[in-house]
Amino acid sequence: MKALVLAGGRGTRLRPLTNTSAKQLFPVANKPVLFYGLEAIRDAGIVEVGIVVGDTGAEVRRVVGDGSQFGLRITYLQQEAPLGLAHCVLIAREFLADDDFVMYLGDNFLVGGIQELVAAFTGADYSAQLLLTPVDDPRSYGVAQLGRSGQIVGLWEKPDEPESDLAIVGVYMFTPAVHEAVRAIKPSARGELEITDAIQWLVSNGYHVHSHLITGYWKDTGRVQDMLECNRIVLESIAPRVLGTVDDRTQITGRVVIEQGAVVEGSVLRGPIVVGADSKIVGSYLGPFTSIGDGCTLEDAEIEYSIVMNHSTVRGVSRIEASLIGKGVEVTPAPQTPRTHQLVIGDHSTVRIRG
Ligand code: DAU
Repeated sequence: MKALVLAGGRGTRLRPLTNTSAKQLFPVANKPVLFYGLEAIRDAGIVEVGIVVGDTGAEVRRVVGDGSQFGLRITYLQQEAPLGLAHCVLIAREFLADDDFVMYLGDNFLVGGIQELVAAFTGADYSAQLLLTPVDDPRSYGVAQLGRSGQIVGLWEKPDEPESDLAIVGVYMFTPAVHEAVRAIKPSARGELEITDAIQWLVSNGYHVHSHLITGYWKDTGRVQDMLECNRIVLESIAPRVLGTVDDRTQITGRVVIEQGAVVEGSVLRGPIVVGADSKIVGSYLGPFTSIGDGCTLEDAEIEYSIVMNHSTVRGVSRIEASLIGKGVEVTPAPQTPRTHQLVIGDHSTVRIRG
């Protein structure tokens, strides 16, 4: 069994952050979202992993390396353009050879791992296995309709009028039968070779595609709200540890992680929170479900339910909430007069200002 992890693509819904960085490397509780997937693959006993990369390939290679930090052997597969999930299978043909494989979307976050799912697939005679879960608005996902006995009746990619509320989760299991399917299909209206169409091809051509309903937590971290929600879920069960320095004017409640070299002075921290290495928190309030990256400075600031990435500064600003702040960002107050906002913001940013 091998794994094919997809870490290319565009990440348009997280712009401008994805203009410069791979969305699969965005931090959830200060760890790249992709790492959770790689760990799940390792825990399922898989060692050989192919990672499909695109424009941000250099960054992914630098952060993930040869896989030895996870106990994996990683082969990078360069995709010339984001031509679709099924295109990723096409270009991975040689790497995958005639092995069964798990295809894991690098921006998907699944609590509970894939150990049992991989074991069930290995012992079964299905050609493919799909994971499905009910969602409130299925229109942004692949959608499956099941028949009375749970068999797949039809599959659609991001339908305007979904036939069911069952979204296709970004963890798929395939036998080599899928290679014929990805060669047979044509690009969709959005110009991509859709894996949903390849699976539909398998169903239509009489292959047994098994669907498995998952009940655990799953998110596609493609949007800001989803990133914040994943961060909340991981922080909820974080084991507290204080490796940095906290002065006696600071009040800490709840589970808090303060990494090596971080300094917290005269602040209120209401966990769950993680403060990255070498960050400085002075005279500030950090509220629940907040992750502060490495080398950040928060001074006279209030923030909660947010993610601040490495080397950013928030000074003299209250209160920031439900926000995703990129790397090397500076957020400071404007002078009292003139009463203006002064902004230097990248393309496709979202800024909400009071008054
Ligand atoms: O998250 C689950 C959904 O993922 C499924 O319900 C959909 O059926 C499936 O098509 C997919 O939809 P998305 O629109 O969310 O896919 P996205 O473009 O975000 O790509 C998913 C991952 O694959 C992401 O890590 C980027 C990577 N990718 C994507 C494309 C299109 C590639 O590496 N190459 C590509 O060509």
